[in-house]
Amino acid sequence: MPTYNQAEAILQVQDVGVAYGDKQIIQNINFTEKDVLRPDQVQGQTIAFVGRSGRGKSTLFRSLAGLEKPTQGTILISDLDAQEQEGHPPLRGVREGDVGFVSQNYVLFRHKTIEQAMEFAMRKREDVSETEKGKMITQHLKDWGLYQVKDQYPNELSGGQRQRTAILEQVLSSTNYIIMDEPFSGLDVGNIQNVINAFKLINLSHELATIIFCTHDIELAVELADSLYVIGYPTKPGGGLDNVGTLVKHFDLKARGIAWSDQFSREHQLLVEEVKQAILDS
Ligand SMILES: Nc1ncnc2c1ncn2[C@@H]1O[C@H](COP(=O)(O)OP(=O)(O)O)[C@@H](O)[C@H]1O
Ligand SMILES: [Mg+2]
Repeated sequence: MPTYNQAEAILQVQDVGVAYGDKQIIQNINFTEKDVLRPDQVQGQTIAFVGRSGRGKSTLFRSLAGLEKPTQGTILISDLDAQEQEGHPPLRGVREGDVGFVSQNYVLFRHKTIEQAMEFAMRKREDVSETEKGKMITQHLKDWGLYQVKDQYPNELSGGQRQRTAILEQVLSSTNYIIMDEPFSGLDVGNIQNVINAFKLINLSHELATIIFCTHDIELAVELADSLYVIGYPTKPGGGLDNVGTLVKHFDLKARGIAWSDQFSREHQLLVEEVKQAILDS
């Protein structure tokens, strides 16, 4: 079982709810994720959300990305620009632009080549010089298998290349948080593998790198995540389901000893069954 410690909170969601008009979509969302420290390893965290369609995954994700202000509650993330306190960045309310967001229906700039899109994505970063930016872009394009298409336009790319471009834009533009809404949907096996590889590259890039994603592929969620939440409708006290989404289950793969595994073991398979049942029950 891999050893690890948990340090400061990097994401703290307190009592979050979102309503559109008088229709409450999600409510009572509470969870905290901490920086996970592994000996001799620089590694970020990977957090998965699963749940049936319409339960509020995209709504929650837009709130986590600061794109939509929740009608209730607070969302705090690490403030990497602030002075560290006791060796850790303090927490502050999330704002638009803090978190990279790859939406379900992402769009690419039609009139920019891949390389130009990356330059545009990095335009607001003041922590790296222009020369440094150029080097970073070249290195990332190579690592992500996009270098050979750097002078092409989005309509000249395959679906998988477009998906990686959309993710890489967010990686280069923002801090350590990246949220991906169904990044695997509609991709063939080869491209799914490419996105998995992209996850690994992001994960190893920084201690505080944090990937938050949702998927309908439970096996993939269990394979990739170290923390997994089921969002669904809770059971009402008298029986039957409520009709407002919330977190109905949390599975900590670290505590189960099956996070960061190269093998899909019997324990992973058992967890898949548990997760499926939790989804069906909510
Ligand atoms: N802008 C909006 N206005 C009104 N209702 C919305 C809006 N966005 C989403 N909804 C509703 O919120 C519910 C949850 O949607 P969504 O967050 O997209 O769920 P999921 O991503 O889990 O499929 C759905 O019933 C959807 O119709
Ligand atoms: Mg959705």
